[in-house]
Parts: sequence; C-alpha cells; structure tokens
Amino acid sequence: MRTYLVTGGAGFIGSNYIHYMFKKYDNDIRIINVDKLTYAGNLENLKDIENRDNYTFVRADICDKEAIMKIFEENDIDRVVHFAAESHVDRSIKNPEVFVQTNVLGTAVMLNCAKAAWELPDGTFKEGKKFLHVSTDEVYGSLPDDDSAFFYETTPYDPHSPYSASKASSDFLVKAYMDTYKFPANITNCSNNYGPYQFPEKLIPLIINNALNGKKLPVYGDGKNVRDWLFVEDHAKAIDMVQEQGRLFETYNVGGHNEKQNIEIINIILDTLQEMLPEGDPRKEHINKDLITYVEDRKGHDRRYAIAPDKIKAEIGWYPETMFKEGIKKTIAWFFEHEDWMKNVTSGDYQKYYEDMYKNR
Ligand code: NAD
Ligand code: DAU
Repeated sequence: MRTYLVTGGAGFIGSNYIHYMFKKYDNDIRIINVDKLTYAGNLENLKDIENRDNYTFVRADICDKEAIMKIFEENDIDRVVHFAAESHVDRSIKNPEVFVQTNVLGTAVMLNCAKAAWELPDGTFKEGKKFLHVSTDEVYGSLPDDDSAFFYETTPYDPHSPYSASKASSDFLVKAYMDTYKFPANITNCSNNYGPYQFPEKLIPLIINNALNGKKLPVYGDGKNVRDWLFVEDHAKAIDMVQEQGRLFETYNVGGHNEKQNIEIINIILDTLQEMLPEGDPRKEHINKDLITYVEDRKGHDRRYAIAPDKIKAEIGWYPETMFKEGIKKTIAWFFEHEDWMKNVTSGDYQKYYEDMYKNR
C-alpha cells in the first residue's frame, strides 16, 4: 500500500485531489494530510472522508522542520504531493512576505525532509519514492493578446507578481534538487482551476457568490485579461497520472484549452445562474449585467495565460475531460447545495479581507 504525504490538503485543489484519490484507489492507499489551516484551509472540505482508517490529518506548518521530519520518521512515505502555498495574487501584492515564507522556505523544508528520509548512504534514493511539486503557469509571465502564443515547458520563466515570483523560486529549488542530487521529483505547472471548495476570493466563486447575493461584480481593468480555465478534478487526475506515468525529473504543463476573457466568464456565470435557478426564485430578478462594475486594475496584471498541454497529452495521455459549459454547471450546482459552506467561509476574517481589498474599487 502506497503512503502519500499531501501538503495543503485542506485547501481548494488539495481537498479535491484527496477526494479524487480515495474515489480512485479507495483502501489501496493511505493519505496523511498536513495543513496549517490558514484562512484558506478548511476541514469542512474533508468532512466526508475524515473518519476513514486510511486517512490522517496533521495540523502543522510546512516551515516547521521538526514537525515535518517527525511525519517522515513515523511513516514510510512513498509519495509527496506538495500543494501547500499562499495562492492568491491580490494578497501577495498587499503582503508578499508570507508568500516567500510558505512558498519558498516551506518548499525547501519539504525537499530537505524528503531527501533526508529517502536518501541512501551512497547518495541514491530508495526505490520508488517520488515528490510532486504542484506549481502554476503564472511562472511563465504574460502572453500577448495574439492567441497563437502559448506556454510550453520550455518557455523561459518571467514571473511578475510576488505570488508567481515565489512559486518560480520554489520551482527552481525543486529543479536544483533534481539536478544536484537526482532527487526523484516532478513539477506540474497548471492553469486556473475552478470547481467545488474554491475559496471565494478567486474570480469564479466570488462572482457566483456576489451575483446570488445581489452584490456588484468587480471586473479589474478592461475585463479582457485571459485565463485558461480547468475543472479541478481534471487537475487532480493529471497530478496522479504524472506521478505514476510521467518521466521522473520532468516538468509537465497542465491546461484546459479553455481560454476566456474575464468578462466572458462573468457573462457565462450570469446566464448559467439564470438557467439553473428555479422559476419564481427571487434572486432571478437581481441577477443581471447591471451588477457588473469595472474597478481599478490589479497592479502588474498579467494579460493572458494559455497552456499548451501537448507534452502531457503525448507522453501520458492526459487531456481535459470536463468542458467549461459542463464544469461551470457542476460548480454552480455544488455552490447551490453548499450554501452553509459559503456562509461559513465568508463570515469573520474573509469579510474583513473583502472590505479592505475592495474599499477603493
Ligand atoms: P488554497 O489557498 O485553496 O489552499 C492552500 C492550502 O495550503 C490551504 O489549505 C492552507 O491552509 C495550506 N497552507 C498554506 N500555508 C501553509 C503552511 N505554511 N503550512 C501548511 N499548510 C499551509 O490553494 P489552491 O488554490 O488549492 O492551490 C494549491 C496549490 O496549487 C498551490 O501550490 C498553488 O500555487 C497551485 N496552483 C493553484 C492553481 C489555482 O488555480 N488555484 C493553479 C495552478 C497551481
Ligand atoms: O494561473 C494559475 C493561477 O490562477 C494560480 O496559480 C493561482 O493560485 C490562482 O489564484 C489563479 O490566479 P489568478 O490571479 O489568475 O486568479 P484570480 O481568480 O485571482 O483572477 C482571475 C482573473 O480575474 C484575473 O485576470 C484577475 C481577475 N479578477 C479577479 C478577481 C478576484 C477580477 O477581474 N475581479 C476580481 O474580483
């Protein structure tokens, strides 16, 4: 039985990944989820699996060497899947330091502990051990509006925000461990995810939540920045396929082939909400384009991201299965069914964050 150490498993993608893995492997794997439970970590995301015998939650900071080393000493870890990070670009613009702390130093701790646990006296590594570093397409910078340009694994790194700079630094650390020690790892660079359990500071859940509550829909700049949206379960699948079928030491880009301008996304959400809300639901009356409000642009706002997932498709056979039309319906249906989840995460600290972030917009 393989034992996984998943970092950041109480966050958006991490919790979807854990659900995906138990659905796929059931009792054939064991997962230890280590998460600090920052504002973005939520154990409610894992309620339905928390009592499994093959699942353990450890509350710890990935920057805490002793706590992480203890997990490796007490368990024979076969796979590390490293999600834990500060993940929101706007927060990184306001407060970059915690991004360096968690994303760079935390990754260094994870690499050091895995290396210490897995390295043999001759400098090689125990058979079959693998580390997967979950990263982002934002490390490649920004593409021009011209829709013939794409990010490839060979595209030079050119990060712009403190978030993407910290993720680029963490990628380089992983690359350094692979190059220097032949440390058994992979990196995946993925485009924008959406789906269940996404924290409503990110565009899609923020727009769904605001529209349902009749609040204005803030569009940064001209609304024509482009992101390449991928349903989160497709990302979870890609991570598992790369770890089991990918070539060690390789980077794989993961993307949805689904480029859309932000304003298009917002219009699709408005139309889909109208379509899915039952006749007579009072929210139908206020959900319309009048809610759209153009606000001050994000500082250093990257114009366009677009992944060419050619390598992962050719080598591993992964491709995005969920079309946007279907994925956004599934996402909205999930938010309809989980109103309490949204209420819980939007109370308290997040409310303060929202008021602060949008006070001049
Ligand atoms: P998220 O913010 O929803 O979750 C991050 C999780 O990490 C939370 O559970 C949080 O509590 C935990 N965490 C933060 N700091 C920690 C620390 N110091 N120690 C332990 N745990 C800590 O993020 P997400 O959107 O799920 O992203 C997960 C990973 O995927 C990140 O590495 C991110 O860079 C990458 N990624 C995200 C996207 C996206 O669209 N969301 C796309 C590509 C890559
Ligand atoms: O590309 C992958 C990245 O996608 C991940 O690495 C990040 O962790 C993830 O947060 C995401 O980054 P973005 O900055 O692209 O996502 P966000 O949802 O914050 O914004 C998407 C686009 O929508 C972006 O162009 C900014 C715009 N936006 C965002 C918000 C929150 C708005 O116009 N209004 C908003 O209120």
